[in-house]
Amino acid sequence: MGRLAGKVAIITGATSGMGRDTAYIFAAEGAKVVIVGRNEERAKKVVDKIKADGGEAMYVIADMSDLDNVGAIVDKTIDAYGTVDILYNNAGMLSLSTIEEITMDEWQKVMNVDVTSSMILSQKVAPIMKAKGKGVILNTGSVAGTSARWGPVAYCTAKHAMNGLTKACARELGPEIRVNAILPGAIDTAMLDSVGGVDAMHHMTVVSPLKRAGTGSEIGKVALFLCTDDSSFMTGQLIRVDGGVDV
Ligand SMILES: NC(=O)c1ccc[n+]([C@@H]2O[C@H](COP(=O)([O-])OP(=O)(O)OC[C@H]3O[C@@H](n4cnc5c(N)ncnc54)[C@H](OP(=O)(O)O)[C@@H]3O)[C@@H](O)[C@H]2O)c1
Repeated sequence: MGRLAGKVAIITGATSGMGRDTAYIFAAEGAKVVIVGRNEERAKKVVDKIKADGGEAMYVIADMSDLDNVGAIVDKTIDAYGTVDILYNNAGMLSLSTIEEITMDEWQKVMNVDVTSSMILSQKVAPIMKAKGKGVILNTGSVAGTSARWGPVAYCTAKHAMNGLTKACARELGPEIRVNAILPGAIDTAMLDSVGGVDAMHHMTVVSPLKRAGTGSEIGKVALFLCTDDSSFMTGQLIRVDGGVDV
């Protein structure tokens, strides 16, 4: 029996990158997975692959910058699968503008996508998980959430805020709900490609002790650990999966 057999997991940002690779791992472990993103073609591909491999999944199209519609992700999950056991707040956008360049519109969009939508989803699943007596929330932060070295102002600020959200939710939602975060370093995904890929991120890859970028499934395996009872005494933790870049 899979380690997530019978569990329902919402994964935002699962149409691509580490969210998609985590969705494959969760589905292979028996979870019913809700794939969330804006791109319907990619969402459908992920669902089709999971089903072709014998798993169960559905997708919900949602733009996390549109906060009024974020809660509907949970409603649609309940309609289809009746409950939610795991919420993985992973959707994220990068912003490269500095403090001297950024507009209010861009700032607000980064905050909405990278942190506020996760707060709304956490607030929405909390009563469901509390009523069940058990649940897990996992957030995707970043090494840019511990140092200004790894991201410009809005991304850096939002990812630092994600750490606070993780700790505050862990304290406020225990003992029923555990809340942790993964802080990835350079991971070989479309987001890394958007800033020039592994070569351009030389300062985060070849200078790190492991001398390479990570993969989405290396994040997914840690996510699996944090979403099963293998991590049953862990909450409020910020787990770096970064090749040791700041060591
Ligand atoms: N790659 C890295 O090196 C790295 C390092 C540290 C942290 N991270 C974080 O890891 C997470 C996943 O990123 P990734 O590297 O896997 O990049 P990715 O392959 O570009 O995936 C980003 C995901 O977020 C979704 N997304 C982006 N904007 C959205 C919006 N407005 N509404 C809904 N969904 C949205 C995308 O879906 P759609 O396009 O379908 O909307 C996609 O599924 C992000 O939170 C990112 O900040 C990445």
